[in-house]
Amino acid sequence: MDSPEIKERMDALRAEIRRHDELYFRRAEPEISDAEYDRLKRELTGLEARHPEFVPEDTPTRRVGDDRLEAFETYRHRAPMQSLDNTYGEQELRDFHQRLVRLFGREDLEFLVEPKIDGVAVSLTFEKGRFVRAATRGNGVEGDDVTRNVATLRGLPHGLEGGNIPEIIEIRGEIFMANEEFERINREREENGFPLYANPRNLTAGTVKLLDPKEVARRRLQIVFHGFGYCEPAVFGRMSEFHKTLKTWKLPAPERCRRARGIDEVWEAIGELDALRHHFAYATDGAVVKLDSLAHQEEAGSTSKAPRWAIAYKFSAEQAETVVEDISLQVGRSGAVTPVAHLRPVQLAGTTVSRATLHNQDEIERKDVRIGDTVIVEKAGEIIPAVVEVVVEKRPAKSDVYSFPGKCPACGSDLIRLPDEAATRCPNLSCAAQVRRRLQHYASRQCMDIEGLGEAVVDRLVERGLVERIPDLYDLKVEELVSLDKFAQKSSENLVRSIGESKDRELWRLIHGLGIRHIGATASKDLAAAFGDLDRIANASREELSAIEGIGEITAGGIAAYFSEKRNRDLIDALLTRGVRTRDEKAESVKGGALEGKTFVLTGTLPSLSRQQATEMIEAAGGRVTGSVSRKTDYVVAGEEAGSKREKAEKLNVSVIGEAAFLSLIGK
Ligand code: IVH
Repeated sequence: MDSPEIKERMDALRAEIRRHDELYFRRAEPEISDAEYDRLKRELTGLEARHPEFVPEDTPTRRVGDDRLEAFETYRHRAPMQSLDNTYGEQELRDFHQRLVRLFGREDLEFLVEPKIDGVAVSLTFEKGRFVRAATRGNGVEGDDVTRNVATLRGLPHGLEGGNIPEIIEIRGEIFMANEEFERINREREENGFPLYANPRNLTAGTVKLLDPKEVARRRLQIVFHGFGYCEPAVFGRMSEFHKTLKTWKLPAPERCRRARGIDEVWEAIGELDALRHHFAYATDGAVVKLDSLAHQEEAGSTSKAPRWAIAYKFSAEQAETVVEDISLQVGRSGAVTPVAHLRPVQLAGTTVSRATLHNQDEIERKDVRIGDTVIVEKAGEIIPAVVEVVVEKRPAKSDVYSFPGKCPACGSDLIRLPDEAATRCPNLSCAAQVRRRLQHYASRQCMDIEGLGEAVVDRLVERGLVERIPDLYDLKVEELVSLDKFAQKSSENLVRSIGESKDRELWRLIHGLGIRHIGATASKDLAAAFGDLDRIANASREELSAIEGIGEITAGGIAAYFSEKRNRDLIDALLTRGVRTRDEKAESVKGGALEGKTFVLTGTLPSLSRQQATEMIEAAGGRVTGSVSRKTDYVVAGEEAGSKREKAEKLNVSVIGEAAFLSLIGK
C-alpha cells in the first residue's frame, strides 16, 4: 500500500471501530464478535505503530469505549477506571514481562494470575464499609450511576464484614449472568415470538442500564470483584492480600487466582485457567496477569488507557469449520430482512450449530460469503454464532458470488434499501411473514399479553387465512378454531376468552403492540402518560409529540408517519369498534390536577420523602416523572447529594426546588 492508501485504510478502520464501540458500549447490541472487533483494533494498532504521522489525538485505540447514557446521573470515579491491553500469544506475553524486567532490573517479579471475567465492569463505592454507589465505567473518568440497579443483586452485602475496612474504597468488579439464567430468559422470549438475545454479556450490559430496578431484580445478575481503584487510607500492600480480604468482607472473588514468580510460572498458571475455565460460574475470555506488589504497580505506572503493570491474555475464541449449505432471508415485523447461513451441523463450544447470522447485505459482500463455501464460525461468548470468514482455498472450483435477492422470500415484493440503513426491507405491509411477526408482537407478553397466542398458534391462524390484521383476532369464533386441526374445544374457548380479555389492557400495551417504528415499551409508556388517549396521540402534531419528555424528533416523526397512513387509522377504528380500550382511566382521573402537564425530575435524597412517594404524589396530581433533565423539564426536585442533574438543570434554566417548595407546590 502507498501512503494515501494506508491513510485511507486507517481512517476506515477508525470509523468502523467507532461504530462498533457505539453499538457495543452504549447500545449493547454488537454486530460482530469480540474476536472480530479485536482483529480490527489490532490492524489499526499495527498501522499506527508504523505510521505515527497518521494518528489523530482521539484515536479509538487510545481510549476506553464509552457506555454512558442520558438517563442516568453521572458519577465521577475517584480513581479512573482503566482498560487493559490485550495479548494473544506466548511471545506477546513474554514481551510484556520483558518490559517490566527491564524497568525493575530483575527477573523474579511476582504476579497474580486470575481469570478475566467476561462481564460488565462496575465500580462500587463503600464508605466506612457501607455500600453507597455503583457506577459503570463510562468513559473511564465518569460513569453512569446505577446504584439502584446494582442494589438489587443477590449475594451483594450492603455492608462489609470483618476488619481492615478503609474509610472509602472503590471496589472494581464485573457483573455477569449465569448461562442458565440467560437461557431461561431466551426461552421465554422465544415463546413470545421475540428475537433472541445474542449472548449473556450483552444482555447483562442492557440489564444494568434498565430504568426499572424491579425488572433488573427479575433477571438474576451476579457480581464478582477483582480489584480496587481509590482506597483511603491505603490498607493493602499486595493484590493477593486484597483478594484474601475480599473473602473476609464476604464479597465474591474470582476463582483460581494464583501467585506466580517469573514468566514461566505465569504461563503455566494461564494454561491451568484455560483448562478449567468452563467450570466457572461466569464466562471467561482470558487471563489477567498483574504485578502483585502495589508499590511495583505504582512504579510501573500507566498509559492514558491501560496500566503497564497488568495485561490481559486472551484465550482463543472457540471456532469451527463447516460448510454453508444455503443462505436464506428472515423477514421481521417491520419488514427488515436478515440473511442467515444454513450450515452443515458442527460441534462448537458444547452445542451443535446449524445456523449463523450474516447480519446484512454489506456484511455478506465484505466477507464474500457464497453458498458452498467453507467458513469459520465462531462463538466468542456468543450463543448465536457468526460467520467470521471464508476459507477461500477450500472454495469449490465453480461458485457464484452470492447475489442478494431482489424479492421478498415470503411475498415476492421488490426489496428496498433506504439510504443510511444497513437493513434491506420488504415494503409490503401485507407480506405474510410481516403479518405473522406483527401479530406475534401484538400478542406477546411485553405488549397485549394474550395467553395461548404464541408463535405457533399465530402461524396457524395466518396460514389458514383466519387472521390478517390485528382486529381480526377479536372476530375469531370458537367454532372456527375447532375446525382447525390440533385445536380442541377447550383450548379454543380459552383462546377466544384470553383474546377478549386483552381488550381491557393499559394503553401503553396497545401502543407498543401496534409496532410503530422506534416505539418500544418505554416510549409507549411516555406517550400513554402524556396523552392518556390513543385518539389524541393520533391527532397530535410532530411538535406536540416531541414536546413530550423521552420522545425525540425521530420518534415523533415515526409516530406522525404511522398515523398519517389511512390503513393505520382504519386499524385503530377497527379496534375501537371491537371494544378495545384506547384510553387510560387513570390518566383521565388526574386531569385538572395541580400539576397537570408538568414534568419533574427527582434527584438526590429528599429529607422526608422517598422517590417512590414523591413520584406517586406527582402522578396523583397529574404530573409526570422522568429520568433525565432537558429543556422540557418543568421542575427538578433536588435533595442532598444531587449531582449532575442539578447542574444540568441550572445550565438549562430549569427551576430547581427542594422538598419544602415541592410540597407547597403540590398544596401539602
Ligand atoms: S484488573 C486497570 N482483573 O477487563 C484495569 N480486570 O479488558 C485493571 N476484567 O477493565 C483491571 N476480569 O473490567 C482485572 N480479573 C480481572 C478482570 C478484569 C475482567 C475486566 C475489567 C477491565 C477489563 C479490561
